[in-house]
Amino acid sequence: MNINNSKHVQTAVRKEQYPIEILPEAAFVGRSNVGKSSLINTLLNRKKLARVASTPGKTRQINFYNIDDKLSFVDLPGYGYAKVAKSTKDTWSDIIDTYLTSRKQLKMIVMIVDIRHSPSEHDIMMYKWILSMQLPHIIAASKLDKIPRSKIKERVQDINKVLKTDDGIKIIPFSSETKHGKDELWNEIVINTGLIDESSVNNT
Ligand code: GTP
Ligand code: MG
Repeated sequence: MNINNSKHVQTAVRKEQYPIEILPEAAFVGRSNVGKSSLINTLLNRKKLARVASTPGKTRQINFYNIDDKLSFVDLPGYGYAKVAKSTKDTWSDIIDTYLTSRKQLKMIVMIVDIRHSPSEHDIMMYKWILSMQLPHIIAASKLDKIPRSKIKERVQDINKVLKTDDGIKIIPFSSETKHGKDELWNEIVINTGLIDESSVNNT
């Protein structure tokens, strides 16, 4: 995907704070610290556009990014970080809930899980919810650089099995360090958001 200009447009908590422009949107969900913001930066060829957390569990807002006025990326707060208070967790799930259930231009979800671990209880809940809303989705298995090549297949099968992924749902092994999986992920995003631009697809 050729990107000329990507920018942060809005930080939001409440619905009224979401940007009003109607671009197709892809939202990124996953456990806190799984690598959502790093993955967004990798897709956009930027080092620090999306803030990478120095302390896990800190991102409490939704961040919206505009890509060439064609597409919007939405970095949702991470869930499931053990060390935050229950009241804070409830606020986070409310923030995620409200966004996912109310945003009309949401076209797809990229769910991110850590390739090294079996999906958590929270991941399973999130996935069931995505299925129940019948939202187009793909799964990116992050931190690929942290496992040996020989383990990839086994880890992907485990993630498939634990999440009970729908038939045909792709799990894309991904690394923000090596950028492995970037082109494949972009292809899926372009298709699922309806942003089909053949020249860009072939040009990543
Ligand atoms: P929250 O905003 O707290 O929910 O976290 P996040 O999911 O946005 O994760 P973030 O991108 O901030 O990354 C968390 C940590 O994991 C950082 O130290 C990153 O550098 C590291 N990290 C993210 N992706 C990768 C990856 O593919 N490989 C490796 N080795 N480290 C990664
Ligand atoms: Mg983040």
